[in-house]
Amino acid sequence: MTLQAIRWQDHKLQILDQLKLPKETEYIDVKNVEDGWQAINKMQVRGAPAIAIVGCLSLAAELAETESTYREKAELQRDVASKLEYLVSARPTAVNMKKSAEELTAVSKNLSESGISLQDMVKSIISWCEKMLEEDVNTNKNIGKFGSEAIISGNEGNRVQVITHCNTGSLATAGYGTALGVIRALHDKGHLSKAFCTETRPYNQGARLTAYELVYEKIPSVLICDSMGAALMNSQKIHAVVVGADRVTRNGDTANKIGTYQLAVCAKHHNVPFYVCAPTTSIDLSLNHGKEIPIEERPHKEMTDVAGTRIAAPGISCWNPAFDVTPADLITGIVTELGVFKPSELYQKLQDNLKNC
Ligand code: MRU
Repeated sequence: MTLQAIRWQDHKLQILDQLKLPKETEYIDVKNVEDGWQAINKMQVRGAPAIAIVGCLSLAAELAETESTYREKAELQRDVASKLEYLVSARPTAVNMKKSAEELTAVSKNLSESGISLQDMVKSIISWCEKMLEEDVNTNKNIGKFGSEAIISGNEGNRVQVITHCNTGSLATAGYGTALGVIRALHDKGHLSKAFCTETRPYNQGARLTAYELVYEKIPSVLICDSMGAALMNSQKIHAVVVGADRVTRNGDTANKIGTYQLAVCAKHHNVPFYVCAPTTSIDLSLNHGKEIPIEERPHKEMTDVAGTRIAAPGISCWNPAFDVTPADLITGIVTELGVFKPSELYQKLQDNLKNC
């Protein structure tokens, strides 16, 4: 049984408070959109897919409670649109919540203009949100399959060593994970020698969350500081770097946790394949390149303090971008649930897939 970051039962939403991990395992109630916004903004839940799922389910939980207060479908539709817009503002870089909000707003507009009842409109919106939770795990399993096959091919007979950054596992998704899903699949197939995970300063998602998941799953793994990537690639055979994504643009440029770019530069220098593992919901075809991606800046306290204790010299100023953009030319392949694509072929492959749907 993998870790469960999101619990949804009888229209009630709970999330594992990731601010307390790994010390405490505590689930908190998310009763409405305001709770959802706060949990996402404070990073009690984080990771691009999990943000979107929790955001939408917070709306579903609220609607299940407030259904009887709506007098007409148009009123419900306006409220759904404005609550979704609010949820998007909780964190700006990951595109999944924004895309889900756009889709669900369109769905709710269609429902409000159709002949169904107000009660059925609420039911349909809730089931739309529930489907996100169900579909995400299958999506991730396919990413795991395609990504592990890509890494194994060319390394037949060898057990591989990989590096990952940040947390992309069960805690960042509905389950299984994206880049961590690839590591999981390599391990399940007996092809993994070791996974190295970075601490992922300043918020330590690697040391606190990925390390926790790897130990929990009994996957052979080693923790390194973010600054050790180059030395590791220089001193040991590393077969691949696998990371997640918060937003991939049309040309394949990829925003992911700060520190991803420097790993990609090191990987290029050492001839190590660099894979971005992301569901197609993280791909933003409306942006041409990475310079257009809004990069979130987080409070300085996340850098200056560790576990509530200030470690930085008083008076120093800080720069704390939560993400960086890895240029497409440093990326070997983008691993999606549809297959592994070179950045240069990503747009066409997604268009082809849309045509075939
Ligand atoms: O700031 P976070 O913890 O939300 O950042 C998370 C990442 O950068 C992940 O790599 C990304 O969201 C993909 S999660 C499957």
